[in-house]
Amino acid sequence: MLRNSSDDAAATPPIKGIIGTGQAMQQVYAITRQVAASNASVLLTGETGTGKEVIARAIHELSPRGSGPFVRVNCGALSESLLESELFGHVRGSFTGAVANRAGRFEAAHTGTIFLDEINSTSPQLQVKLLRVLQEREFERVGDTETIRVDTRVIAASNRELLDEVACERFREDLYYRLNVVPVYLPPLRARREDIPQLVSHFLEIYNEENDRFVTHIHKDALEALVKYHWPGNVRELQNVIERCVVLATGDEIDLALLPPTIRGETVGPAVPGRGGDLDSLARELVEQGMTTAAEDDANLFERVVSRVERELISQMLAACGGVQLKAAARLGINRNTLRKKLTEHGLEDGE
Ligand SMILES: Nc1ncnc2c1ncn2[C@@H]1O[C@H](COP(=O)(O)OP(=O)(O)O)[C@@H](O)[C@H]1O
Ligand SMILES: [Mg+2]
Repeated sequence: MLRNSSDDAAATPPIKGIIGTGQAMQQVYAITRQVAASNASVLLTGETGTGKEVIARAIHELSPRGSGPFVRVNCGALSESLLESELFGHVRGSFTGAVANRAGRFEAAHTGTIFLDEINSTSPQLQVKLLRVLQEREFERVGDTETIRVDTRVIAASNRELLDEVACERFREDLYYRLNVVPVYLPPLRARREDIPQLVSHFLEIYNEENDRFVTHIHKDALEALVKYHWPGNVRELQNVIERCVVLATGDEIDLALLPPTIRGETVGPAVPGRGGDLDSLARELVEQGMTTAAEDDANLFERVVSRVERELISQMLAACGGVQLKAAARLGINRNTLRKKLTEHGLEDGE
């Protein structure tokens, strides 16, 4: 792993348009600049909304290929056969609906960068084809025999721990190592809360401008709640919340009352008070909140809401078990290590 010492990292200037000057992001900037200069494949990992796409674009723009195309393909959004033809192109008649020859995204990214988002969703067959492109820089369009060579840099992203996928044999080990030449990990927002105030200002500026508003102040209680919240949807969720606040504010200030109840009412530590463990109604409430605060096209609604419910269940069970993890894990019917991992993920470990 390319890791800068903290001294070097502190000297790394931030990257245009990317907000956050805390230690965690300094490290990300340092690695971003280092890998930009090379042609190495990069694997970006981190929860949804942590900025993987932002960093992928930065790597491209700072690289010698910066004036070439940047092509993003969301591997999780297309069926296996559509994805194959999207990536590699096809020739007329190779399948129903293939009415003409069509170039794929690898060809479109020639001299530039292809960003394979949600790479963990690719099928084993497609992984074989991707491995070949990474190794040989060549492939054929679907239904064709002619070999095409491209000069394309590959950046991939996964919102799952790819090594776990390898262990479960859902992801090819050889492809993993090909992609993972340089790993870049984007920490969740709750692990870099020091960046939250800056991000809030940044999004306020953007959404004021966009909506022709002047919501320039934030009450200190509101800011405190934003800093404390655990942000399962990370920067994207924060962005949505600020947009909503700017639109709904009646004056020039965001106060506590304007924040969604989940964020406003978040207590540090276990359990929303007074619910007596009625998980059905709690779940219903959390789902409703999640849906009202989500933007129309929020691609992460499912993950966000489920993560919220998961956190609440775990924190309530832990409280009910007097903080004894072994007991809570048993009552939840999950492995103790799984519980530990989830406690860390949700920022529920001791001291938080
Ligand atoms: N450090 C950052 N500074 C400014 N905006 C950010 C930052 N990180 C993420 N964002 C914004 O948050 C949203 C989600 O980021 P994205 O890169 O799409 O996350 P991911 O690909 O990890 O899901 C985008 O709108 C992006 O512009
Ligand atoms: Mg993304």
